[in-house]
Amino acid sequence: MTIVSFPLPDFNKINKLIMLQFKLMPFKLVIIIFISTLISLNVHAQQMGKDELKSMEKSNSAFKGGIRGVTGPGLNLSPEKMQWWEDAKFGMFIHWGLYAIPATGEWTMFNKKMSPDEYAKLADQFKPRYFNANRWAAIAKAAGMKYMVMVARHHDGFAMWNSPSSYHHFNSMETAAHTDFVAQYTAACRKAGLRVGIYYSPMDWRFPGYFDPKGQAENAALMKQQAYGQVAELMKNYGKIDILWYDGGWLSHKGTDEDAAWFWEPLKLNTIVRNYQPNIVINPRSGMFGDFQVNEGDAEVKGPILEFPWEKCLNLNGASWGYNKTQHLMSLAGILQMLVNVVDRGGNMLLNVGPDPDGVIPQTHVARLKEVGSWLDKNGESIYGTRAGPFQPVDSLYGSTHKGNKVYIHLINSNKVTNELHLPKFDRQIQSCRLINGQDLPFSQDRNGINIGIQKTHLEPAVTTIVLTCTN
Ligand code: GLC
Repeated sequence: MTIVSFPLPDFNKINKLIMLQFKLMPFKLVIIIFISTLISLNVHAQQMGKDELKSMEKSNSAFKGGIRGVTGPGLNLSPEKMQWWEDAKFGMFIHWGLYAIPATGEWTMFNKKMSPDEYAKLADQFKPRYFNANRWAAIAKAAGMKYMVMVARHHDGFAMWNSPSSYHHFNSMETAAHTDFVAQYTAACRKAGLRVGIYYSPMDWRFPGYFDPKGQAENAALMKQQAYGQVAELMKNYGKIDILWYDGGWLSHKGTDEDAAWFWEPLKLNTIVRNYQPNIVINPRSGMFGDFQVNEGDAEVKGPILEFPWEKCLNLNGASWGYNKTQHLMSLAGILQMLVNVVDRGGNMLLNVGPDPDGVIPQTHVARLKEVGSWLDKNGESIYGTRAGPFQPVDSLYGSTHKGNKVYIHLINSNKVTNELHLPKFDRQIQSCRLINGQDLPFSQDRNGINIGIQKTHLEPAVTTIVLTCTN
């Protein structure tokens, strides 16, 4: 096998800078993230199993204790190669598999203590009548999303493609569906002009070795062999893949992904990945330091701009990632405020949908996504292709982005908004100040900052976008 190595602009230096950022992260931010995580965990605790909760909490470790992950020279992408991803801002996550049938979330097998044989029976029933990946892609486009990430295999072990490496032939080609969903999905994304992402979980609950990797080393080795085989299949058989989104690079639901690196050997695994897909953007959950960092869950995003690529992933239906009988659909205001809070701090947002057992994204979800799309039709120039700042966000009040000679202010609708918005000192000369619909707003600028006259009647229900045009 030829291993391709990549010319990179001193990534070690970039790593060090990123690490430094974390060290300097104000104490206040750490406390805020901690408290908001606790609140969000409490909400979820009502529906999630203990280990499922731990999984969510663990995945935010980068935001709590500093970026973790093993590094390999040349394995991470250069900032230039990350640019499209940072420009994209908004993507669709899709959790779909056998767990759509019981409709109690993607952790059903583990939470309900189902044996692999019992769970495997679901594969006989999995014959989605209306699966149409083009339809999914059209929904993502209508929502203003630029990329998709589909779960190819979750922790239950069921592969959604023609997977010769699948242990016990547990895949959608060799069971009742007789369909390669990944093939249809990847083709549909490309046809729609969306970037293609694949989620893959190396861990697999069917293997006792997962729960006891040292005591049952032989069985654990089989699981690892499956992971290497399947990752290679996904990387070589479906054309260009833009994002590889690992999840569950840990062992026995304990520790962090990095702690399990002795077992999974993520540098070796991702060298294989890079061999097939030199420019793929890789997340941090294989135990390797990722091309971006992940923040999971629906807690409000607060604090300053983060100076490294990161992504917020969360659920449109708060009940679970996989299709669920219980529905806690996010409000339009909740989605829009989350989006600007993320983008104004330098992140992307990956919003999850869980299609039903027939492959259909629930109609109420589609309608909500269309509402997001119409907001983006009008406000998209303040989102896509921008970078965060120049103004540091003020929690629950406003944040900003910029592109060329334009600065965009996203004002969060709240009763904190009075008749005037004050922005800090700014070294560029402002020529005009308008609402995104073109309506002029009175403003003044001096050494102390900018004052914008904004009346209640100017405010939009969730987020009001103000455009400052600079002379330089
Ligand atoms: C968590 C969960 C998993 C879900 C993922 C999405 O790690 O274990 O069910 O797929 O988050 O980010």
